[in-house]
Amino acid sequence: MSQPPLLQLDQIKVVYQQVILAVSDISLTVPDGQIVALLGANGAGKSTTLKTISGLISAERGELAHGSIHYQGQPITTAQASSLVEAGLVQVLEGRHCFAHLTVEENLLTGALSRRVSRATLKQDLERIYHYFPRLYARRRAQAGYTSGGEQQMVAIGRALMAKPRLVLLDEPSMGLAPLIVDEIFTIVQQLNQQENVSFLLAEQNANLALHYANYAYIIENGRVALSGPADALRARSDVQQFYLGQAALAA
Ligand SMILES: Nc1ncnc2c1ncn2[C@@H]1O[C@H](COP(=O)(O)OP(=O)(O)OP(=O)(O)O)[C@@H](O)[C@H]1O
Ligand SMILES: [Mg+2]
Repeated sequence: MSQPPLLQLDQIKVVYQQVILAVSDISLTVPDGQIVALLGANGAGKSTTLKTISGLISAERGELAHGSIHYQGQPITTAQASSLVEAGLVQVLEGRHCFAHLTVEENLLTGALSRRVSRATLKQDLERIYHYFPRLYARRRAQAGYTSGGEQQMVAIGRALMAKPRLVLLDEPSMGLAPLIVDEIFTIVQQLNQQENVSFLLAEQNANLALHYANYAYIIENGRVALSGPADALRARSDVQQFYLGQAALAA
């Protein structure tokens, strides 16, 4: 029998406060070992989709009203966020959340709280993060609140990696950051994917950027999938260029 995909969403519908329809019909698949992009404009339903997968939606009075979510072949529709983290499914929230008063290294260590491991293992794990993010090594004793936006995004991703995830739900890592630092972050994401076999579901408004790094992409509009396909095929399509990559193309 063939392996089930790492993540599978079937026709999910999500409402906030029992009345606000945020996602009406999204189905998607993340195969093991891939980077899948979830693209769409402001308010399309990207963050809602990610938070529904990770179990964080209930904290915002949202709920899955229809459809199903499977992770590693198991239904996770009613799973707690903390048990999903233990199972290797971790979200990096939009807006690069860090504990401002903790140092970079302390922030990273909070990511390992769900695992009961020895100091020696933690040290090894930190070294692994610093290998991928040399900037964080240089800034490890700095208070996170005083680091740059790009460094804070790296802290947020590094903290998620300390949970030893198989799948990271990464919400708008490029938001508000300069192009050079964004390229650096996406290159690291690609290395983590290729060298550590971490899979990513990546929400982005910047379609042009995400299609450069993703294997496959779903474009969502008003809470439903408008278009999907292999990233290079979508990039080559003139209608996608015109409607979704137009702005980026003009700026380039
Ligand atoms: N906590 C909430 N309560 C009620 N409605 C919400 C909540 N969060 C989001 N929404 C609504 O759900 C819809 C989808 O929002 P969502 O944040 O998922 O979009 P998004 O694609 O992540 O947008 P952006 O690119 O701006 O982050 C929007 O209409 C938004 O106003
Ligand atoms: Mg969002």
